Amino acid sequence: MLNPYSPGAGNTPRSLVGRDADLRAFEIAVRRIASGRHDRSVIVTGLRGVGKTVLLREYGRIAQGEGWIHEHVEAREGTDFVRVAAEMVRRAVLRLSMTKRLAAQAGRVAGVLKAFQVRWNLPDGGDMTVGVDPLLGTADSGLLDRDLASLFNETGQLAQNHGGGVLLTVDEMQFLPKDHFTALIMGLHEVSQLNLPIVVAGAGLPSLLSLAGDARSYAERLFDFRTVGRLSPEGSAAALVEPADAEGVQWTVEALDRIVELTDGYPYFLQEFGKQAWTVAEGPDEITEDDVDVAVPLATEELDRGFFRVRFDRTTDTERAYLEAMARAGGGECASGAVARALGKTTTGAAQTRDTLIRRGLCFSPRHGVIAFTVPMFDQYLRRRSELRRG
Ligand SMILES: Nc1ncnc2c1ncn2[C@@H]1O[C@H](COP(=O)(O)OP(=O)(O)OP(=O)(O)O)[C@@H](O)[C@H]1O
Ligand SMILES: [Mg+2]
Repeated sequence: MLNPYSPGAGNTPRSLVGRDADLRAFEIAVRRIASGRHDRSVIVTGLRGVGKTVLLREYGRIAQGEGWIHEHVEAREGTDFVRVAAEMVRRAVLRLSMTKRLAAQAGRVAGVLKAFQVRWNLPDGGDMTVGVDPLLGTADSGLLDRDLASLFNETGQLAQNHGGGVLLTVDEMQFLPKDHFTALIMGLHEVSQLNLPIVVAGAGLPSLLSLAGDARSYAERLFDFRTVGRLSPEGSAAALVEPADAEGVQWTVEALDRIVELTDGYPYFLQEFGKQAWTVAEGPDEITEDDVDVAVPLATEELDRGFFRVRFDRTTDTERAYLEAMARAGGGECASGAVARALGKTTTGAAQTRDTLIRRGLCFSPRHGVIAFTVPMFDQYLRRRSELRRG
């Protein structure tokens, strides 16, 4: 029998426990926008492993269910959003141009896209704009926000005539270069005033809002900022019970309580603990507290080898020392000044390390002068590591 908690099983939970309000709000926004009314795009922020990506994927399903086109991209460190935006628009237009009735208009959008590509030194992506003449004077001003606005505008009109809309989902949005993120906000802002059916749904770490910088007030009007976090104890239990239930397997109350407590309601951990408990349970149709006892060290080891380690492996010695100092300070939010002092440095002396850790997505700054891990329970992992080393 397939392990219902295994990421291999599609990595999609059967139901997004506890996220009904988010999904409903999104569905309403899409419907409103599709009918020519105004509504906001959305940005989901939260720590690592809380379910941002699965939520974006679900948004995509909702939009497609409404007959919209959905294009997805995952940003990385150093992602060039100019290129990404052009590519997303290209793919969307390609699909919209399948309709014969819209061939002429799609041809025009291809010309606009070509002008954008030429102005921003982008290669012809695929074959859509090869041999197409750039439509000079559109999307080629050299001001990124204006050019993105033109591109979105043309695409939005095409989608509207198509009777649908376009949803662009951008995961790991905190990795967008600041100027590109700002341009996206300004460009989208222009289009949103025209009530065209083009929606951006972004997901990223909590640092995302501060990335908006000067465009912050626009961002707040343009996007519905939603925070996702831990599941409630009832939600956590449901996330464990539902997949097992579907296979005719029950959890005892004690077993559930243990996992809910140990995972603190973090979806990624619930899934890993659930997976190990499922594997070790002799069953045939029950998972007990004894099973959980056996599963706990296995799940912890698995998390240490995967979830935590992939983050830790990419750090330098100086960064590790900084992270360990944070863990020693208690693991929650810490004052950057105190971390610096613990390392025998001035705040300015440690600032570069701190900034790199934020830029690379390991930490974020909830408030001025405060630093915290983006990975839940990272402090516990670091303590386990240093205990191992001390041996
Ligand atoms: N609401 C939920 N109910 C049940 N399981 C969930 C829920 N949200 C997330 N999960 C599970 O938790 C895991 C982590 O989710 P996801 O990858 O979406 O997190 P994330 O916030 O994108 O993390 P990261 O920041 O590391 O990319 C997934 O395997 C997913 O199936
Ligand atoms: Mg993700």
